[in-house]
Amino acid sequence: MSVRRLDAVQPAGFSFTPDNLSRAKRTIANYPQGKQASAVIQLLWFAQEQDGWVSRPALEYVGKMLDMAYIRVLEVATFYTMFQLSPVGRKAHIQVCGTTPCMLRGAEDLIAVCKSKIHAEPQHLNADGSMSWEEVECLGSCVNAPMIQIVKDTYEDLTPESLSAIIDDFQAGRPVRPGSQNGRQFSMALTGATSLTDKSLYNKQRTYTRVEAPPPPVATAPAVASAPAIDLQKPATPGAPVSADLSAKPPMAPVPVAAPVAPPLLAKAEVQATARASAPVASPRVKPAAVSSRKTPANKVAPAKSAGPELLKRPRGKADDLKLIWGVGPAFEKLLNKIGLWHFNQIAAWTPADISHVDKLLKGFQGRIARDEWVKQAKKLAKGWRPDNPIGERPSGKK
Ligand code: FES
Repeated sequence: MSVRRLDAVQPAGFSFTPDNLSRAKRTIANYPQGKQASAVIQLLWFAQEQDGWVSRPALEYVGKMLDMAYIRVLEVATFYTMFQLSPVGRKAHIQVCGTTPCMLRGAEDLIAVCKSKIHAEPQHLNADGSMSWEEVECLGSCVNAPMIQIVKDTYEDLTPESLSAIIDDFQAGRPVRPGSQNGRQFSMALTGATSLTDKSLYNKQRTYTRVEAPPPPVATAPAVASAPAIDLQKPATPGAPVSADLSAKPPMAPVPVAAPVAPPLLAKAEVQATARASAPVASPRVKPAAVSSRKTPANKVAPAKSAGPELLKRPRGKADDLKLIWGVGPAFEKLLNKIGLWHFNQIAAWTPADISHVDKLLKGFQGRIARDEWVKQAKKLAKGWRPDNPIGERPSGKK
């Protein structure tokens, strides 16, 4: 990995744009008084989104906002390779993972491509300043090695040819799909799924019984004695000696009983997981009964109440690629389609009430809409924004 030092040429100063300043203030307000320094990574990221890299004046500015010593901010910025300490390519800065799994799977060949197509040296801009590259340590996608990262997206299962094509696409402003480049889904085996292949898991024919966790142990002997001896622990002689001891020493009673909470939690997790898989957001809005009882256009899914977001049974013509919304992957996109969301302009039109309505349908993903500023992203995407120039132009500043 290259030495991480601040660039020799620094700007005279730095300050957040009004938008970024208000984002920064909102972020700082998320932390309790005295713990604002915890926002340092987020604020440095805002600075990088604004300028494409973090300069010394930016580090000082963030340090002052968070009441942190400059050296503390510098430590963070120089530790994480997500922060660029020098200006990088306008269109793409390619971070090639060179750690062992990626190296064994061909990272050196990827670096050779970067050298030939961008610049012979890392951290140098190409002739027109649009591209740059560097080698970094493990980026957490070892399972699909070798890989690169460009801003926030990873491109995995690469070959010299596929990397070369990615560089060309960025250079030409063509959209590039992140993730595996050889068709692999997530990190499953190249030959296809090898686990959870039982179709009955997904066809709603399995039945499950929810096992509720017992109430938390109360510091009295009777409550403890009533807790069923669900036995993860060895049930030597389940019940008798335990309850006898507990009643004899009430203050100590909750301690030995605490462990049996584990089995119900396991069962609960299983129930939740299967519920998610077998009944994926079967929104009441999508039920035919709900639709037929209301006079709505053929393609509309009638909202349960009088107002609500526009939901469609099928796309109007060609569906938009909702994966262009930062944070939405293929599985998430399917979920959105099932809910009735196919187009950027559906999301772009959401009111706060619509957001809260849809958020409730995103089982397991609640909070993503606000966190990733979907409406803001969708508005830009609906107007034709595409990730051909990721630095400085991403909707909602997401990279
Ligand atoms: S070794 Fe390359 S992503 Fe982990």
